[in-house]
Amino acid sequence: MSAPAPRKILVTSALPYANGSLHLGHLLEQVQTDIWVRFQKSRGHHCLYVCADDAHGTAIMLTAEKLGITPEEQIAAVQQEHMRDSARFLIGFDNYHTTHSEENRIWCEAIYKRLKDNNHIASRPITQAYDPEKQLFLADRFIKGTCPRCKTADQYGDNCEACGATYSPMDLIDPVSAISGAKPIEKDSIHFFFKLPEFAAMLQEWLASDTLQPQVANKLREWTDAGLQEWDISRDAPYFGFEIPGEPGKYFYVWLDAPIGYIASFQNYCDRTGHPFDEYWQHGGATELYHFIGKDIINFHGLFWPAMLHSANLRAPTAIYAHGFLTVNGTKMSKSRGTFIKASTYLEHLDAQYLRYYFAAKLSSSVDDIDLNLEDFVQRVNADVVGKVVNIASRCAGFLRNGFDNTLSEPLRGTGDGGLLHRRWRGDRRSV
Ligand code: 2FM
Ligand code: ZN
Repeated sequence: MSAPAPRKILVTSALPYANGSLHLGHLLEQVQTDIWVRFQKSRGHHCLYVCADDAHGTAIMLTAEKLGITPEEQIAAVQQEHMRDSARFLIGFDNYHTTHSEENRIWCEAIYKRLKDNNHIASRPITQAYDPEKQLFLADRFIKGTCPRCKTADQYGDNCEACGATYSPMDLIDPVSAISGAKPIEKDSIHFFFKLPEFAAMLQEWLASDTLQPQVANKLREWTDAGLQEWDISRDAPYFGFEIPGEPGKYFYVWLDAPIGYIASFQNYCDRTGHPFDEYWQHGGATELYHFIGKDIINFHGLFWPAMLHSANLRAPTAIYAHGFLTVNGTKMSKSRGTFIKASTYLEHLDAQYLRYYFAAKLSSSVDDIDLNLEDFVQRVNADVVGKVVNIASRCAGFLRNGFDNTLSEPLRGTGDGGLLHRRWRGDRRSV
C-alpha cells in the first residue's frame, strides 16, 4: 500500500501590532502555532507558516508622531524587532511580511470591490466625537473624563474601571481628548459598512460546522442570536492605512485589512518562491487553511472574516484555533505590578527553550487562560527539561562514548523520527 499523499497546509498566527514590542502573550500563540507546524512538517506534510506585522491604525500614527518619525519608519523598525524576537524564540515562519505592503493594498482593493459589486457595502453618515484641535475623529479609547455614575475621574471612553459602568464617551463628565486635552465636539461624517446581517444564515451554518472549538462557537452564537449589526469598515483621514478606492479621505479600518494580510503575506511568499498561490485561496483546491488566534479576536475571525471571504468568493478556513490569555502568577500581565514581560526581557535572562517547553506542557485545545506561574515554571524546567530531557542526552553521551566511538549515525529516511530510534547497537562492548 502506498503512503497517503502529503497534505498541503497553510497556517497563520495573529498579526502583532506594529506599535509595540512582542510580549510573552504573543509568544504563547507563536509557540503554539510553531509546534503545530513542526508536527505537520515532521509527518511529511507540506506545511507553511506565514505571519506579518499589523501596521495600520490611529495608534501607530500617533506613536510615530510622538517619536518624531514617519509611520513608515516606525513600522519598519518594529517589524525588525518583532522578527528578531520571534527568531530568538525559534519560531519558524516561512514568511513574515507587513500589512503596509503592495500585496495587501491590491488584495484589500480587490476584496472590497467584490464586496461592493455584490451589494454588501452600505454607506451613511454617523456622528462621532471629534478633536477640534487635532482635527481628528476620536475612538472611545482616546477620550477621557469623569464617570457619570460613580464620578471617578480620568476614565477612558466607554467604560469605567472603577464601577464597571458602560456609556457613550459623550456621556462622560468633562470629556477631553486624550491626545490634545481639547474638549471633543460631535461631528458627522460618511462611513462605509459591511452588511454582516446578510450573512446570518451562512454564519449559522458555519458555526454549526465543527470548524471552531465548541466554546468559541457558543460564544459567537450568542452574538448571532442577538442579531448581527452592520460592521463599520471605514475611518476618516488622517489615518495611517489604505485609502478606499474612489472615496477620497476615507480609509479602510485596520481590522478590515489585517486578516487580508494573511493572504498578502502568502502572496509575498509565493512571489518569492514560485509556490502556487491560487489553490490555497480559491474554492476547491486540495489545501487546508488554519488560523491560530487569541480568544479576544474571535469575532473578527469567526464572523467578519468568513463572511468577507464568502462574499469575495474565496475559501473559508479549515479550522480556527483560539487560545486563552496568558496570565503571570494568576493575574493579567501588568506593567505596574512588574509582571508585563517583553519577549526581549525574558531572553536577557533565560533560554527560549524553557518557555517553549512550559507553554507546550500547558497548552491544550481549550480557550482557558494559561498561567505562567513562576515557581511552577522553575520547578517544571528543572524537573522535566533538566532532570529528564537533558539527563537522557547526558546518559546517551555516555553510551556514545563507550559503544560508538563518540559518533552518531546518519538519520535513517522514512522512519518518521529522523532516525533517532534506529541506530543499531554494535553490541561489541556492553549492552544498553
Ligand atoms: O489583536 C491584535 O493584536 C491584532 N493585531 C491581530 C490581527 S490578526 C489578523 F486579523 F490580522
Ligand atoms: Zn464609574
